Amino acid sequence: MLNWDAFNEPDEQIAAPPLQTKQELPQAIETKPLAAATDQLRYEPTGSAAYEAAQKALEQLDVAPGLEELEMGAERVQVDQKRMINCRADLNQLVPFKYEWAWTKYLDGCANHWMPQEINMTQDIALWRSSDGLSADERMIVKRNLGFFSTADSLVANNLVLSIYRLVTNPECRQYLLRQAFEEAIHTHAYQYCIESLGMDEGEIFNMYREIPAVAKKAAWALKYTQAIGNPQFQTGTTENDQELLQNLIAFYCVLEGLFFYCGFSQILSMGRRNKMTGVAEQFQYILRDESMHVNFGVDVINQVKNENPQLWSQEFQAKMTQMILEGLALEIEYARDTMPRGVLGMNAQMMEEYLKFITNRRLIQIGLSEQFPGVENPFPWMSEIMDLRKEKNFFETRVTEYQVGGALSWD
Ligand SMILES: [Fe+2]
Ligand SMILES: [Fe+2]
Repeated sequence: MLNWDAFNEPDEQIAAPPLQTKQELPQAIETKPLAAATDQLRYEPTGSAAYEAAQKALEQLDVAPGLEELEMGAERVQVDQKRMINCRADLNQLVPFKYEWAWTKYLDGCANHWMPQEINMTQDIALWRSSDGLSADERMIVKRNLGFFSTADSLVANNLVLSIYRLVTNPECRQYLLRQAFEEAIHTHAYQYCIESLGMDEGEIFNMYREIPAVAKKAAWALKYTQAIGNPQFQTGTTENDQELLQNLIAFYCVLEGLFFYCGFSQILSMGRRNKMTGVAEQFQYILRDESMHVNFGVDVINQVKNENPQLWSQEFQAKMTQMILEGLALEIEYARDTMPRGVLGMNAQMMEEYLKFITNRRLIQIGLSEQFPGVENPFPWMSEIMDLRKEKNFFETRVTEYQVGGALSWD
């Protein structure tokens, strides 16, 4: 740790330079333009070629880089110039805010900050090592979910930073995207921490998304939707390309983060409720809290893009998006059957199918599409205490305090 006292000790060896009063300072520095002011900073030549080259480069510095690309030049940003996509206003200026909800979510995300090492994994390690602590089906659920999630969050993070960030042209949303990207890094860290703590075969777990069909299909499905917009040459500005971006947002926020995570989350959380693998379950509970926010943010962005660009939301496009979400549902049902060949942890594949249809209905409604499974109910009412988005605020408010004092999450 730094000791600031050391900086206050007088150094008698070095003579202090005479103080310049304000009056003695050359007035020109305050009034001259930047190029002229740079001259004032010029020191006597040192004879170094590198130093001379650095001086020359600075003399040629363009003080208004990129401004010619903006329609309003150097004018101040007006809030009504801001748009979610295809915005021409200066993206380096965070304020004035247009989308207050994005800034609020950024602040909420920061208030929820957590790290995987803060969670005690001791009981999990003992249980995982014991020969009769978990059934074979329970062990498979732990391994399959760590296999899926350890790479899924990297897919999300890569899509965020390599594709979405560039194309979402709003600084307060970009601020949230940066926060979300870091949270995805923390999630991947959390899975790695679980895998390492439990002494699992890292190669087997991390490569599962290329080896186990039910895991591989979900990853391949998501990657399909990031390819086009991940091309550095891709630009929005046409109906076709704007729809391509909107499709990516729906695929990643509503399906990958909003549906593909939910079978695994409910399985691991069910394990925690039974007092098994409570450290892993607690990691998942913190991750779930973040993911609920990611989905809510994504839904808000999607609806904002729709409102500002109604031509994108054609009947044909709506039908295409409904089909895309149902494809995701089919893959998640397949994953549920693969991970639960028999009843386990008070649930089975059939109940999970009903639960996933319930979640699918909600995702469809959230972005203004028609629900596809009328009357389906949530077969896991205990899940709504943790996951139900309508109760998220209560969940969030109570958990923040507990986290900040370092308390463990409690299990009902
Ligand atoms: Fe995540
Ligand atoms: Fe996420």
